[in-house]
Amino acid sequence: MKIAIAGFGNIGRIYARSIVKLNLTERKNVMILARSEQSKRTALDDGFECIHESPALIADAEIVVIAVKPQDFSVLASFLKQFLKEDQIIVSLMAGITIQQIKENLAHSKIIRAMPNSPIALGMGMTGFCSSSDVMSKELRKAEQLLSTTGRTLYIDDEKKMDAVTAVSGSGPAYFYFFVKSMIESAEKLGFESSVAALLVKQTMLGAFHVWNSSEDDLDKLISTVASKGGTTQEALKVFEQRGFASTIESGLKKAEERGRELSGELNKH
Ligand SMILES: NC(=O)c1ccc[n+]([C@@H]2O[C@H](COP(=O)([O-])OP(=O)(O)OC[C@H]3O[C@@H](n4cnc5c(N)ncnc54)[C@H](OP(=O)(O)O)[C@@H]3O)[C@@H](O)[C@H]2O)c1
Repeated sequence: MKIAIAGFGNIGRIYARSIVKLNLTERKNVMILARSEQSKRTALDDGFECIHESPALIADAEIVVIAVKPQDFSVLASFLKQFLKEDQIIVSLMAGITIQQIKENLAHSKIIRAMPNSPIALGMGMTGFCSSSDVMSKELRKAEQLLSTTGRTLYIDDEKKMDAVTAVSGSGPAYFYFFVKSMIESAEKLGFESSVAALLVKQTMLGAFHVWNSSEDDLDKLISTVASKGGTTQEALKVFEQRGFASTIESGLKKAEERGRELSGELNKH
């Protein structure tokens, strides 16, 4: 299967490398459309075929991945659309650009819109994706195989929910880092050196994640296994509850979703 990737920045590079690493196709079948000399050089150094001098080769690709910044899309689209064939699958990784906007700009109907998150770099990403009605189930499976080379995927049947995907899994890694940072800083205030505080927190997060991941118990049960009545954990949890920790998280995610909708509205005006 031939795959073309337009845009060889952080995300384009991760997908190109993951596709080959996971044997979705051979390196020689991955074509890169890059812009700057530096991106072209990186693509060539990685052993990929660069097609900026022969962009018509895009027509050979079964899947065309769009990995440019949303604000660069219209310029790319006006160039790209002349080379596309009707049966090709377009996989957009651009935040906020709707299926309708992609359809109009590319004059193309088979569109997958995906929202990955940053752990895709380690093959541990979470990607929500949706599709235009013209994408057949066989084509959807192919696109899903491609997206799965960077981690887990989830099909979202209503495109409107993509802003919620962004708010939960797209932004999620930053929420985790924020929580971890607060815990490390609190541990320092309890008298630990920063490296020791970081070790205590990092290993605790890792261990707790794996307990949750391998347990059949729900989270309330897992909390109760640590927080015995009248004990230390319960005191901390009481403070979290009194200060509205859970509702703060809820409000944050809601705001993120709203902002996603706003940004998407602005991007899709043009
Ligand atoms: N970073 C994330 O965690 C993340 C998560 C979810 C979604 N996304 C989405 O992924 C997309 C890419 O993000 P990124 O972080 O990879 O950005 P990036 O590092 O800036 O990469 C974008 C690349 O697109 C290239 N480009 C722009 N116009 C082009 C054109 N006409 N032809 C060929 N190449 C062109 C740029 O080329 P030059 O370098 O050559 O100028 C740049 O290398 C964005 O739409 C973003 O919304 C990113």
